[in-house]
Amino acid sequence: MWEPQGMYSKFLLKQPTILFGENAIMGLKTYASARVSVIYGSSLNEGYKQKIINALSSFEISFVQKTWFGEPTLETLHATIKKIEDFKPDLIIAIGGGSVIDGAKMVRTYYEFPFFDVKETSFSMLNWKTTFVAIPTTIGSGAEISSASVMYNDSQKTKEFVISHQFIPEIIVLEASLIENAPKNMLLASMVDALSHAIEGYMSTIDNLLVDSYAEKAIQIISQYHHVINDGVEHEHINKLQLASLFAGLVQNHCIVGASHALAHQMSAYGLSHASAISIFLPVVIRKNISEPNCAARFDQLARHSGFAKGEDLLSFIERFISSVDLTKERDIVKKNRERIISDNIFFEQALADKGGQGNPVPMDKDFLLSIFKDASS
Ligand SMILES: [Fe+2]
Repeated sequence: MWEPQGMYSKFLLKQPTILFGENAIMGLKTYASARVSVIYGSSLNEGYKQKIINALSSFEISFVQKTWFGEPTLETLHATIKKIEDFKPDLIIAIGGGSVIDGAKMVRTYYEFPFFDVKETSFSMLNWKTTFVAIPTTIGSGAEISSASVMYNDSQKTKEFVISHQFIPEIIVLEASLIENAPKNMLLASMVDALSHAIEGYMSTIDNLLVDSYAEKAIQIISQYHHVINDGVEHEHINKLQLASLFAGLVQNHCIVGASHALAHQMSAYGLSHASAISIFLPVVIRKNISEPNCAARFDQLARHSGFAKGEDLLSFIERFISSVDLTKERDIVKKNRERIISDNIFFEQALADKGGQGNPVPMDKDFLLSIFKDASS
């Protein structure tokens, strides 16, 4: 089982500089650099490209479109790594969704440490020469504050986590304008993912009093401002949701999440997005966990500290919120594959071995996960 590196459960990990608000990217002006590579996905438009150029004080900038689709594999990263090696940047910007940022973490790692081995991540102290800037164009995944890079293992058809706390970027830029055009349904599901990071992290077996306050704040902000996704857009409020998502990501990164994630990660093989799969499993997982009295007390505390009267109120907020997400297609896929998954031992073995789901407060075994899956798919 993956163990948290070092003694960080009592402390906060490396704290990136967070530039947030309208034109936050202009804060990069003060970071001296000679050569900048910008790794981008499909969401970078010409207007923002110009904004990046205006925000930098460097001599040369190269824009490199990522060469991987979905989660990166070592093979699909290769062509991007080659371009970065040729250009030799001292500052690397990754702009895009979680998979762009995660892939760029590995590109930077192989650029600086060509001998890096994804199976041997005990190189916990990588001393970077480059500065790494993450500019998320989605909300919720927490990739920008995560020590993990989610890769895809082509031969096993599974997601793999490569983990080093040095992967956390030095600078994060959060601008509301970058996500205002994202599809609403995707944003809603992503906010459920953010909620799950705060809740599963808070409830997890790894206790961290300092990080608790980030979980409470994240839930309080999301419950107060989630309506702006549907009601149209005040940038200031979208920016608050971006910060809440980052706080929740920080909780996930310190405390490890639980059964919702262990199961959701297996559903990518069935074409479900991470956030949709989380939306399907989260309420059932919370209910199973809080049937244990200590977990119920902990959940009650989380609810009270984040502005609800009791745990049941927080849970009904989550259920109402999830019912506003259109999951018709995803629920159909789960129902269609229900019997096949129930009889698939490997599905549950992989869920139990999943490094991203090891923090569940109730010890997980196959029967526990099976009963969650049955309830969530009925
Ligand atoms: Fe997640």
